[in-house]
Amino acid sequence: MPNVVIIGAQWGDEGKGKVIDILAPKSDFVVRYQGGNNAGHTVVIGKDKFVLHLIPSGILHKGKICVIGNGVVVDPKALLEEIAMLEAKGVKVDGRLFISNEAHIIFPYHRKLDELKEKAKKKKKIGTTKKGIGPCYSDKVARSGIRLIDLLNDRVLKEKLKANLAEKNPIFTKIYGVSGYSFKTLYKEYKGYAARIKRYARDTTVLLNDAIASKKSILFEGAQGTLLDVDHGTYPFVTSSNATAGGAATGTGVGPSKIDKVIGIVKAYTTRVGEGPFPTQFDPDLLEKIRQKGGEFGATTGRPRRCGWFDALVVRHSVRVNGLDEIVITKLDVLDELKSIKICTGYRYKAKTYRDFPSDIEIIKNCEPVYVTMPGWMTDTGKVKSYSRLPVNAKKYLDYIQKLLGTKIVLVSVGCDRKQTFSNR
Ligand code: GDP
Ligand code: IMO
Ligand code: MG
Repeated sequence: MPNVVIIGAQWGDEGKGKVIDILAPKSDFVVRYQGGNNAGHTVVIGKDKFVLHLIPSGILHKGKICVIGNGVVVDPKALLEEIAMLEAKGVKVDGRLFISNEAHIIFPYHRKLDELKEKAKKKKKIGTTKKGIGPCYSDKVARSGIRLIDLLNDRVLKEKLKANLAEKNPIFTKIYGVSGYSFKTLYKEYKGYAARIKRYARDTTVLLNDAIASKKSILFEGAQGTLLDVDHGTYPFVTSSNATAGGAATGTGVGPSKIDKVIGIVKAYTTRVGEGPFPTQFDPDLLEKIRQKGGEFGATTGRPRRCGWFDALVVRHSVRVNGLDEIVITKLDVLDELKSIKICTGYRYKAKTYRDFPSDIEIIKNCEPVYVTMPGWMTDTGKVKSYSRLPVNAKKYLDYIQKLLGTKIVLVSVGCDRKQTFSNR
């Protein structure tokens, strides 16, 4: 298989975990390139359900090598818990997981700052996962972060941790009126993590580029979604990394010329967890119905997800900024009981209709969506095994989406299970 990037084409939770699980057997490596344990990727294998936050979902396939790239932020406590969870379920991690020396490390002060900043924003909060993601990336960009390689060097760890606490403790005490962190306690805790994590640390750019040179293939597992990308999303209601396809290159040290294909994962409707504008959100009754049917509760925080109609402006934006070659449609089955289904094809704002996703958050927040209404199929699709067997109206719905996006739908998913997936060839 070629080197393929899998990205979320909406606001996250499109079913990336399930698709990675399906494509992993054809790849040699599965690699995370951005985000951290804010992600929650679900893989259902028969009666077993795995939710992966930090470790690539490919770990569930024996023999696949998994890499956490330099673009990821790693909370060592969360990492060790996830490794323990996998090993308790019989999944061997040692020898199959490698973490970039250059990945930045999340500390408790990042988590605390995430929480305090959100609280201070009151109604303007972002609705973060409070995992410390934003503050850790802030330190990275401010050039004061602590990387895995620094964690493993006692002298550097001491020096950097002291410098960070000297800067951050006054913020806690003077701005937020809470106590700061003791160097001794944090140093001891993180020395302990360093000893346990050392075995996974690698120069992963060498590992991955050598693999490519010897004709091995890589699956890049995007986290979050395009509309949560710090550059291309609904800023400031975004995460702090590049969830889009370009992030796969910067977040792993694999050059763009080595990436062969980008596939976007697209939910048959739209969901969003956390705050921020969402033009096609359902009315409360339908929202509750779809939330229950689709199990739309955050895989990381358990928060109820907001749900809405398919938004073609959102996904066309994704097609553009990711250079999508193909798309996978997930959760088609969740729409099975609807008499009619809407697709948003424009935003109406101040007597103007926008056909391309606007940058102005005021427009996204206050626009009136322009819809095309299609008849539903009112048939259970959960057992459908091929595109040709789909109800006629389901096919029409997908064909219309494909036309609006100008991009081929290659796979369709109609349930959580591996088997509830078929290609469109
Ligand atoms: P990710 O973050 O993109 O990996 O997605 P999540 O795991 O957060 O959320 C997707 C949810 O939908 C999970 O609970 C999956 O088991 C479930 N799921 C995936 N594909 C389908 C599908 O086609 N139909 C239904 N009903 N559920 C699905
Ligand atoms: P996966 O990979 C959906 C959202 C949060 C919040 C915003 C910023 O499972 O699709 P952060 O903690 O990252 O600073 O929060 O981003 N968010 C996600 N929403 N799926 C995710 O990951 C998300 N990761 C972060 O809810 O709105
Ligand atoms: Mg998720």
